[in-house]
Amino acid sequence: MITRLGVVGAGLMGSGIAEVSSRKGLSVVVVEASQAALERARNRITKSIDRGVRSGKLTAAERDAALARIAFETDLSAIADSELVVEAVIEEESTKLELFRRIDEVVTDPNAILASNTSSIPIMKLGMATKRPESVVGIHFFNPVPVMPLVELVTSLLTDPNTAGAANRFATDQLGKHVILSKDRAGFIVNALLIPYILSAIRMFESGFATAEDIDTGMVDGCAHPMGPLALADLIGLDTTMAVAESLYSEFKEPLYAPPPLLSRMCEAGLLGRKTSRGFYQYD
Ligand code: 3HC
Repeated sequence: MITRLGVVGAGLMGSGIAEVSSRKGLSVVVVEASQAALERARNRITKSIDRGVRSGKLTAAERDAALARIAFETDLSAIADSELVVEAVIEEESTKLELFRRIDEVVTDPNAILASNTSSIPIMKLGMATKRPESVVGIHFFNPVPVMPLVELVTSLLTDPNTAGAANRFATDQLGKHVILSKDRAGFIVNALLIPYILSAIRMFESGFATAEDIDTGMVDGCAHPMGPLALADLIGLDTTMAVAESLYSEFKEPLYAPPPLLSRMCEAGLLGRKTSRGFYQYD
């Protein structure tokens, strides 16, 4: 049973992981590079928990208790006594490798689990950045974390089965998530299927074949998806979509994973979806 969790990187995903964990009674230390990023994370978490209060999922007292269980820090050594660390920084291999090297240095408990929320980077690479690859595992959440029930559990060739078992119990028994097991290849199960679908939608839009609205309506009204592929890309973030596509392409060299030029141009332009208020759609 995990009682002390460290979350490194508190963007959309890290904030969501910290929120659901504190709501389930864990003490959480959130680490971000700057005070400004920590403030954004605190606001995001508060707003999301307030949403839960409004919809009657938790009381005001439970909200206050959950928020009080989260510490916000800029110094990585604040996670030293964590039993589990979840890394959730940007989907950039060099950044994650350097961070895993540092997490390995600061976390004192030799039995601690070092996890990544990576969407696509093989866990083996992250494990080999540490001196304890047997303790490294992928715990991949889905956006929005408080809403989506799924977690992909990814084990590398060197992950100890006890590490995997403890990570599984954390996600299943403590967070109430539904765990599926994936082997360690880029994209794991869900993104290996989802990203080519989204890229196909972008290619369809880019070719002028149909409007963004009609492509999305086709999948919502025709296939009962909660949102269409272009709206979903905006939700995920076009930078993350691009990073996952690149990671898949680099692993498999299959054209279906190659990012279309329009996706590259939108990323270069900073049109990243909801987080920048503009992607395939405009957000206020
Ligand atoms: N935080 C907390 N709660 C949220 C939330 C958020 N960010 N967004 C929505 N909710 C809650 C709402 O409070 C509401 O709860 P209630 O029914 O108890 O009041 C419920 O979710 C439904 O929300 P809304 O009525 O506002 O909106 P929708 O019904 O349109 O649902 C959605 C929004 C949940 C985002 C839905 O459109 C959806 O499921 N979309 C698909 C999401 C998806 O596919 N995610 C996976 C992305 S891939 C990924 O994450 C992997 C990565 O590696 C790329």
